[in-house]
Amino acid sequence: MPADDRARPWYVAGPSRAPGADVSGPSVARLYDCCLGGKNHYATDRDAAEKIRAVFPDLADAAWANRGFHGRAAIWMAQQGIRQFVDVGCGLPTTTDTYMAVEKFAASARVSYVDHDPAVIAHAHALLARTGSTAVMLADVRDPASLLAGLHLDGLIDLAEPAGLLVTAVMHFVAAEDDPWGCVARLVAALAPGSFLALSHATADHLSPVAAQTVAEVFAGASERLYLRSRAEIGRFFDGLELVPPYTGAEAELTCAGLWGCEDPDLADSEGSRALYCAVGRRSKIPRGRAERPAPSTPGRAASRTTTTGTTNTPRQKTNTPRQKRIAHD
Ligand SMILES: C[S@@+](CC[C@H](N)C(=O)[O-])C[C@H]1O[C@@H](n2cnc3c(N)ncnc32)[C@H](O)[C@@H]1O
Repeated sequence: MPADDRARPWYVAGPSRAPGADVSGPSVARLYDCCLGGKNHYATDRDAAEKIRAVFPDLADAAWANRGFHGRAAIWMAQQGIRQFVDVGCGLPTTTDTYMAVEKFAASARVSYVDHDPAVIAHAHALLARTGSTAVMLADVRDPASLLAGLHLDGLIDLAEPAGLLVTAVMHFVAAEDDPWGCVARLVAALAPGSFLALSHATADHLSPVAAQTVAEVFAGASERLYLRSRAEIGRFFDGLELVPPYTGAEAELTCAGLWGCEDPDLADSEGSRALYCAVGRRSKIPRGRAERPAPSTPGRAASRTTTTGTTNTPRQKTNTPRQKRIAHD
């Protein structure tokens, strides 16, 4: 922890682009900000959002479903005792940030915000840097070694202790040739047993071919291309982790973004929610296959009350027992 009360400097881990807003095309961070009703976007971002909305009117719903998952997952981790969080691909500060979400449940929480967009990091530093509790780092998830080295140098996050790794709506910007699964696996491998990974990822599984094609075309002109993946491909990010049931009565498996931590899956289901799959997985405390572990509690009521979407659903009990499941390699 820094000894004085100044905001922490931000770290640059690995090579970076020059700072400044590139408005020659839409930026994925600004486009997301636009969908969430933020103020940090330009005409090029709004035009891109309009083109997507023409074929997928539920774009804003999808963004909110994802942001809701991010907040609920972070809160649930805090309720499991996690006190330090690494928010990779944190995005522009628009809604409740991770620290604000968890601090009610974990007063001593620490959050390291990471993004590879210098404009995001500049905003994050201005708005999210809280003395001693948060850090901001410019780093690329495709270079996990530099990202981990940056965390180590910064010192806010102690990787010897369990942590919550949030990688929401980021890995669909990483091409298969950059091995997105390997990048996440290297970050997870650096976490202490008892840590959690929360990850969401866009899918075309429920999109019409025309919508999927249009979305791909819009992102082809953006700061990042978008790689929509199948449920099985997204499940691979959780290889070797123990998935937690997404809501009371559910199987421990991937679900749609709006459903994770919901109280009523029927009410939480929507077209927008189905645009992303998500899950939370836990790094086991003991080596795989050695013994049964007590299951972490199921996310639900308490977390749902504080979602960024503001939805409060009535809990619906189902008779099947929540189970833990390990995702196998395809
Ligand atoms: C759609 S926003 C998601 C923000 C936040 N994680 C959420 O779910 O609400 C995607 C963010 O990921 C960042 N991003 C994209 N590719 C990245 C990469 N290779 N490394 C780090 N950040 C990346 C973008 O700059 C952007 O801020």
